Amino acid sequence: MNKKVGVKILSTGSFVPKKVLTNFDLEKMVETSDEWISERTGIKERRILDKNQTTSDLAYNAAIKAIDRANITVDDIDMIIVATISPDVPMPSTACYLQKKLKAYNAVAFDISAACSGFIYGVTTAKAFIESGMYKRVLLVGVEALSRIIDWTDRNTCVLFGDGAGAMIFEASDTENDIISTYLGTNGDHTEILNIPAGGANNPTSEETVKQKLHCLKMIGKEVFKISVLKMSLSVTKAQELVGLTDKDIDLYIPHQANLRIIEAVAKKAGIAREKVYINVHKYGNMSAATTIVALDEAYQEGRVKKGNLVELVAFGAGLTWGACILKINF
Ligand code: COA
Repeated sequence: MNKKVGVKILSTGSFVPKKVLTNFDLEKMVETSDEWISERTGIKERRILDKNQTTSDLAYNAAIKAIDRANITVDDIDMIIVATISPDVPMPSTACYLQKKLKAYNAVAFDISAACSGFIYGVTTAKAFIESGMYKRVLLVGVEALSRIIDWTDRNTCVLFGDGAGAMIFEASDTENDIISTYLGTNGDHTEILNIPAGGANNPTSEETVKQKLHCLKMIGKEVFKISVLKMSLSVTKAQELVGLTDKDIDLYIPHQANLRIIEAVAKKAGIAREKVYINVHKYGNMSAATTIVALDEAYQEGRVKKGNLVELVAFGAGLTWGACILKINF
C-alpha cells in the first residue's frame, strides 16, 4: 500500500503597496468621519496599489518572498493557485500572469473564486492535490486589488476595503503534516447580499451598467455582519472537532480582518480569549482573500507565532462561503 502523503508548509510571504489611505483622506472623498469608521469597523487606514501596478504584481512580490524563504527555485513549483475576486482581467486567470512574472513554467496555474474565504479554500485545494500524489510543491497566493472594484463615491463600501497579497508554499512530505484540519462551507442562497452585479454573462457590461456602477462591489452590510459572526464562530469549532482538538490546543487565531466588531463578536461566541486573536484590520481594512495570509505572515515575522505553534485561520465571504483551517507552524 502507498504511504500516506503529508503536507509540509515551507514558508509564508506578504506584500502591501506603499500608498496609505487614511480615514482622514476618506473624509475628503465621501461624507464620513474617522470617528464613524473607527467606531463601526476598527479600521484606521488601508493600502492602495499604484496606478501602474496590478493584482499579479502584488501577488508576485508576496510570492518571491515566500520562494526565497522556502529556499527553493521557481522551477521547483509544480502548481500555482491564486485566490482573488479582483483579477488582472476576467480571462485568463491571474495565476497565468503570475506564472509568467515568476517564470515558473513547470507549474500549472489557475485561480479560485471564494471571495474572503479564498485563502482557506486554497489551503484545502493545495492539500487535496498534494495528498493525492498529483503535485508536489504548491504556491498559494491570496491577493486583492479591491481599490479597482470599489465605488469610491459609496461610503457604505469604500471605507472598508484595501489592497494586498500573501503567499504560502506547500510541499509533499513522507514524515510531516502541517495542515492539521480544514473545514469549508458554502450557501448560494445569499448571493445578493455581497456581489458585483454586472460584467458577467448575467448582466454584461453596457453603458447603463457602467453608469449605475454595477461593475463595483455592492453589499448589504448589516446582513453580512450577522451571518459572518454565526458562520465564523461555527467554523472555528468545526475545524477543531474534526480532529479532536479544542481551544486549549490553539496558540493563535487569525480571523478574517473585515471589521473589528465582527472579530470581537466571533471571539465571544466561540469562547476565545482576546489575547489569542491576531488583529491588523486597523492597518489594512478588508483585503478579502489576502487578509488571513498577510496576518499570518506578519504574526510570524513579529515572533507572535513560533515553531511548533498551532494557528487557526477562519474566514467568511461572498457566496456565501466560509471556513477554517488549523496549521502547524514548523518552518
Ligand atoms: N460614514 C458615515 N456614515 C455611514 C457610512 C460611512 N462610511 N457608511 C454608512 N453610513 C451610515 C448609513 O448610511 C446609515 O445611515 P442611516 O441610518 O441614515 O441610513 C448609518 O451609517 C448606519 O448604518 P448601519 O448599516 O446601521 O451601520 P452598521 O453598524 O451596520 O455598520 C458596516 C455598517 C458596513 C460597517 C457593518 O454593517 C459591517 O461591517 N458589515 C459587514 C461588512 C463586511 O465585513 N463585509 C465583508 C465581509 S467578507
